[in-house]
Amino acid sequence: MSDIETIRDNYLAQIADADLAALEDIRVAALGKQGEISLLLKTLGKMTPEERQSEGPRINGARAAVADAITLRKEALEDAALAQKLAGEAIDLTLSAHDAPRGTIHPVSQVMDELAEIFADLGFAVATGPEIEDDWRNFTALNIPETHPARAMHDTFYFPDQDEQGREMLLRTHTSPVQIRTMMDVAKRSQGAGEPIRIIAPGRTYRSDSDATHTPMFHQVEGLVIDRDIHMGHLKWTLETFVRAFFERDDIELRMRPSYFPFTEPSAEVDVGFSVEKGKRIIGGDPYGANGGWMEILGSGMVHPKVIANCGLDPNEWQGFAFGCGIDRLAMLKYGMEDLRAFFDGDLRWSGHYGFGALDVPTLSGGVGA
Ligand code: PHE
Repeated sequence: MSDIETIRDNYLAQIADADLAALEDIRVAALGKQGEISLLLKTLGKMTPEERQSEGPRINGARAAVADAITLRKEALEDAALAQKLAGEAIDLTLSAHDAPRGTIHPVSQVMDELAEIFADLGFAVATGPEIEDDWRNFTALNIPETHPARAMHDTFYFPDQDEQGREMLLRTHTSPVQIRTMMDVAKRSQGAGEPIRIIAPGRTYRSDSDATHTPMFHQVEGLVIDRDIHMGHLKWTLETFVRAFFERDDIELRMRPSYFPFTEPSAEVDVGFSVEKGKRIIGGDPYGANGGWMEILGSGMVHPKVIANCGLDPNEWQGFAFGCGIDRLAMLKYGMEDLRAFFDGDLRWSGHYGFGALDVPTLSGGVGA
């Protein structure tokens, strides 16, 4: 019979540097059904009681020692494996996060925010109206005659059906119907007495037009000021203050040219002076200098008394000015875009380049020095 302690120590030595697979082989070899120590235990039955008394504890002791050693080694190996796995999976909080794609603010939205900000400093509220208008508010109330070319089907998008009042429905061709809506609201609220008005109305407008400088949908901002003693001087000062704040230059000249709109009298088209600096055309500087000149930016005038009366206000008591200005054009001039059509293509490369970050604040930190 082999020396039981030698057998035990041999297994203990193997266990000490076994991996998990080897450990299972050792367990089978020592303690399995046909294992070396199991077979030794079976020999106890054939022993004399005296032999059994001395051999029993030795063989059982060896079995327990090997079984315990296997359990401990297994636990140690499993702990180590887990520790290694955890170390490999550790979260490194100092790593930078993936750069999630970020949207941008469209230049038209940015410019609308800037307009609202500038005019808010001058005491104007923002008014809105629907893009689907009736021909009375879009044309008739604005003193636009039935024969006016703007009413033609090839200029204006009409809907096939009329509204309940029998009015033609259309996509508004300008923001001027918001003048009508605002004055009618005031007339209603004040039961015809009237009250001062100062609003701008930015929004979408539609005309049947398409080339590099015209898109069927475009944006305008309307301005309307009504009070008892408003005159053209207020109009000029307001536009000058607006244009200088918007283009962020104090040396911008304004030129008013006599013009005609059915809903203003007198009417004026307004140009801003440009000059050339370092080979680039910029709004501002001396329009009479080399390569300088004038650029039309808006239409304006004193609200026609008939329009005021059409809204239910007394034109002998209330008067004021209105203007209408293309927003897309303002954005192109300020931020240097060349093709208007690209504004509405939805190309992410374009918006990535010309768009604004969500946290960019409008540029007027100092406000309008009014
Ligand atoms: N509605 C005019 C246009 O679209 C602009 C305008 C507005 C002119 C207000 C005078 C007063 O061309």
